[in-house]
Amino acid sequence: MTGKIFISRALSIDPASILGEHPFSINPLDRPLSRKELIESLQGCEGLLSMLTDPIDKELLRHCPDLKVVSQHAVGVDNIDLQACQEHSIQVTHTPGVLTDATADLTFALILSLSRRLMEGDRLVREGGFKGWSPTLLVGEELKGKHLGILGYGRIGRAVAQRARAFGMKVLFTTRRPVNDPPNQSVPLDILLAKSDILSLHCPLTPTTRGMISAEALQHMRPGAFLINTARGPVVDEAALAAALQRGHLAGAALDVYAQEPLVHPALMDRKDVILLPHLGSADRATRRKMAEMCLGDLLRVLDGKEPMYPV
Ligand code: GLV
Ligand code: GLV
Repeated sequence: MTGKIFISRALSIDPASILGEHPFSINPLDRPLSRKELIESLQGCEGLLSMLTDPIDKELLRHCPDLKVVSQHAVGVDNIDLQACQEHSIQVTHTPGVLTDATADLTFALILSLSRRLMEGDRLVREGGFKGWSPTLLVGEELKGKHLGILGYGRIGRAVAQRARAFGMKVLFTTRRPVNDPPNQSVPLDILLAKSDILSLHCPLTPTTRGMISAEALQHMRPGAFLINTARGPVVDEAALAAALQRGHLAGAALDVYAQEPLVHPALMDRKDVILLPHLGSADRATRRKMAEMCLGDLLRVLDGKEPMYPV
């Protein structure tokens, strides 16, 4: 029997349905473990099923000498020090592909909610403010003919582009590597900022993208534009975003991720022109089941001495 696995949060499937007789244990608490708790839980374990809320860094690895594989229940791996894992000969895997549509769907839900003021409408009705149909009530923006700007044109960015075209939008994108994908148009960042009626972020969090949507970038955005972030919080300077909304330069924002989750910048909390979601990008039943299956499958493969299917 190969080494024990620790699962850092309860999953949407029973791990034994994949792991069979393989030994494992699960964090029994409905919250992320502290570093100390995680290190204690990992003693004697060779496999870790990690969440994006678990910092996997040098210090943790130093205290977990038995660890051979970290299988991340997410596509983003910015919480994991990949170089440190390599130095400790620890294989890292993740869940690419399966959550592409789920995240693109949520992004579009936010685009529609923001442009047609769904949250404001819901609030108005519940607060007793609906006095009957009105030609001027909560009038929003149409999507057809508008420019959607996509920052980061990987799997998720492309899936968002596909949805946008079905709504008659024009798609512009900016990406690290040049790609040709007509009729969607690849443009430099300054053009993306200047032309997009809606800017949606789909880049990973890296040293380059951290803080990319800075006060200066926001200033270069088209007046009256919307910003959507379903990528990673630290890509956006939240204080600068709140200021841009406050002075009326941007018309609204929809955020699924935050710089210091679960904290939300207080200046964003009370704004009616901001939609705030609790990091739900991949949160549909089928996707979460597939993510769990991929992670557990790769843990078994690596601990059995095989190649993982989804290495980082
Ligand atoms: C979610 O944020 C993920 O990276 O899977
Ligand atoms: C990121 O996803 C990129 O392609 O830039």
